[in-house]
Amino acid sequence: MQIQPLGPLHGSIMVPGDKSISHRAVMLGALASGTTHITGFLMGEDCLATIDCFRKMGVPIEVREDEVIVEGVGLHGLAAPEEALYTGNSGTTTRLLCGILSGQPFTVTLNGDASIQKRPMGRVIRPLREMGASIEGKNDNYCPLTLYPSELHGIEYRLPVASAQLKSAILLAGLYAEGQTTVIEPAPSRDHTERMFRTLGVEIETHGNIITLNPPEDLHAVDITIPGDISSAAFFLTAGAIVPGSELTIRGVGVNPTRTGILDVLRAMGADITESNFCDEAEPVCDLTVRYRPLHGTEIGGSIIPRLIDELPVIAVAAAFAEGETVIRDAQELKVKESNRIAAMAAELSKAGVNVEETEDGMIIRGGTTPHGAAFETYGDHRIAMSLAVLALAANGASRIHDPDVVAISYPDFFDTLQQLGG
Ligand code: S3P
Repeated sequence: MQIQPLGPLHGSIMVPGDKSISHRAVMLGALASGTTHITGFLMGEDCLATIDCFRKMGVPIEVREDEVIVEGVGLHGLAAPEEALYTGNSGTTTRLLCGILSGQPFTVTLNGDASIQKRPMGRVIRPLREMGASIEGKNDNYCPLTLYPSELHGIEYRLPVASAQLKSAILLAGLYAEGQTTVIEPAPSRDHTERMFRTLGVEIETHGNIITLNPPEDLHAVDITIPGDISSAAFFLTAGAIVPGSELTIRGVGVNPTRTGILDVLRAMGADITESNFCDEAEPVCDLTVRYRPLHGTEIGGSIIPRLIDELPVIAVAAAFAEGETVIRDAQELKVKESNRIAAMAAELSKAGVNVEETEDGMIIRGGTTPHGAAFETYGDHRIAMSLAVLALAANGASRIHDPDVVAISYPDFFDTLQQLGG
């Protein structure tokens, strides 16, 4: 695909539903008693993989154009699948399912694509084993994973990394455990699981960074409306912030405080972003308007990292256009995402003439000289593809993106929306 910079971006758009919340809506809807109507569901490949796994365990799920309807089978109603469950490219599906499956009375195998087979699962295997789960994985750390029936008991577990996937896997296993399950986070990670549990009537308490779940008798199905994904909005926020003359609004974006690190960082870089039409139900939502204004470098590290972990590739693009130095540190987790996102962004930004230095736990970008267009690789990673497309919009000259279809993992209509804005 060729991308030619076309001048300012204008308009008002909506982005697809939040990926993290979409996965959880299907999972908890499947385990609830009653019917769950989900609106705003993300029809991306990752979330469709979650639907597929639950269908294989006997959960009736209807996908309509404007909603997904899950006929919950109850906490103890999942059936043994006839074949291995395939989680595709989705880390969230794989890790959260580990938690749920470790409490089932049947044996099941989980596997995913080449990227999933390289992602660390030992971080999930260890605490689940401590809870009594019986799990085998390749080299004790990788897919395929096989889970055998076992009796679980609650534990208190201090997470070695601030990972919402890990936290959620333990809490989901806690649904099936004898006694309380407590998770202690090193820094707050996205809390969508905890919020949705509360909505479904599960007794879960958060005190600072300590989360405690009491196993429920059952979950009560409730209808779920999913806000726009701030991780998808991030591409347009950045595009509006770096393409001179742009002004655009993204409506209905989820602004859960555990996800809004991107807003804090872009503002610290000098971006003009305003919020309007705020409303707060199960998850806070608002419209975001960005107007072009020159950016300057900043430092990003510490407890903000889990609040913007998926946005770091596009933040690196913003940094390339910002005057001065941007330092990203404490972001080692980026190495074990859909690709090694530190290595991928450093290599691709260099191709565009950006002064970028890869470090042990992040990167240093010395920005301010407009990058030039280049032929970019995506590393099979949806967020790398979209980040480079944003860079291409504001670069000097045309760019090429190999394998652009990878955006279908989280944002099938990404390029259509970009075009609609005049990109
Ligand atoms: C997610 C958590 C994050 C994030 C991923 C989705 C989730 O991963 O990178 O895209 O839905 O819980 P970690 O929690 O492992 O950092």
